[in-house]
Amino acid sequence: MTKLIAVLAGDGIGPEVTNAARRVLDALRLDLSFEEAAVGGAAYRAHGHPLPAATVALAQRADAILFGAVGDPAFDGLERSHRPEQAILGLRKALATFANLRPAKGFPGLEDASSLKPEIAGAIDLVIVRELNGDVYFGDKGRRTTDAGRREGYDLMRYDEDEVRRIAHVGFQTAAKRRGRLCSVDKANVLETSQLWRDVVVEVSADYPAVTLTHMYVDNAAMQLVRDPGAFDTIVTGNLFGDILSDQASMCVGSIGMLPSASLDANGKGMYEPIHGSAPDIAGQGKANPCAAILSAAMMLRHSLGEAAAADRIEAAVAAAVRGGVRTPDLGGTATTVEMADAVLAAL
Ligand code: IPM
Ligand code: MG
Repeated sequence: MTKLIAVLAGDGIGPEVTNAARRVLDALRLDLSFEEAAVGGAAYRAHGHPLPAATVALAQRADAILFGAVGDPAFDGLERSHRPEQAILGLRKALATFANLRPAKGFPGLEDASSLKPEIAGAIDLVIVRELNGDVYFGDKGRRTTDAGRREGYDLMRYDEDEVRRIAHVGFQTAAKRRGRLCSVDKANVLETSQLWRDVVVEVSADYPAVTLTHMYVDNAAMQLVRDPGAFDTIVTGNLFGDILSDQASMCVGSIGMLPSASLDANGKGMYEPIHGSAPDIAGQGKANPCAAILSAAMMLRHSLGEAAAADRIEAAVAAAVRGGVRTPDLGGTATTVEMADAVLAAL
């Protein structure tokens, strides 16, 4: 049966890189149909809201969602509920995609693009399992005035045990399919939310005797990630820490333009997006690296569409294109978005 893919390209470089991913998917001649909808600043411009109801409806109806990026400085002054970023947060909530998988793996030939020494960069092969529906992102937030008349902003960090348990299971299952090592990252020395996180992760570990569990404070994890990223296999962490550590992991690989992600619900339905943002500074110039978007399409094939072999082909083609020396500016080259995608298609 034809599978429906919702294409939400969004803002900035979102349309360029999503287009490249579409070309790669088309080349595979799978039984897929695509339907586009507006999201982010583009949707605000066209419909007065960053996440129109029709976009949510399409995302819910689709078998999987291919997402570009949202964010547009023109709208930074709007009240928060109408800013482009609310589209991605709203979709994550509406679709209950609580499990965000962010693999970071070195590409042979790309070691010199990494911020790390080549021999350290070459060893990176980890996945960050980031909780995506809770934490300080979705806790009570606002502005108020203190008794002394000062303006105050607040964002509540919170998790309940069920939220921690379900992401812990994903963490353990992910580690079990890899090298069997799970590192839970928190800040339990200071935060009560983190202490609950740690307690629940330890409880869940009883179900996975084959996985070795360790714990690390997030500050130390940030340090170890650049000291010796090869030491990590699977990291499970909360929404905020996962956001930060995954950007950091991308520079260990070489560029934020190389890292894909999958955001999954409890049934494996997912939204697939590069971890980079809309990069307004280079939008529309053909400079964006489409690899993260193309690799996100590969994750979509593997996790939501039962097309693991096609996913393997895409990943091999990206690796071959990179090995062949084709590089966009973020990787130190001069190739355009289209040329990079062409190289992937040629390798396919
Ligand atoms: C990401 C992004 C988003 C996040 C933004 C755009 C809201 O940084 O997917 O990592 O913070 O989750
Ligand atoms: Mg981020």
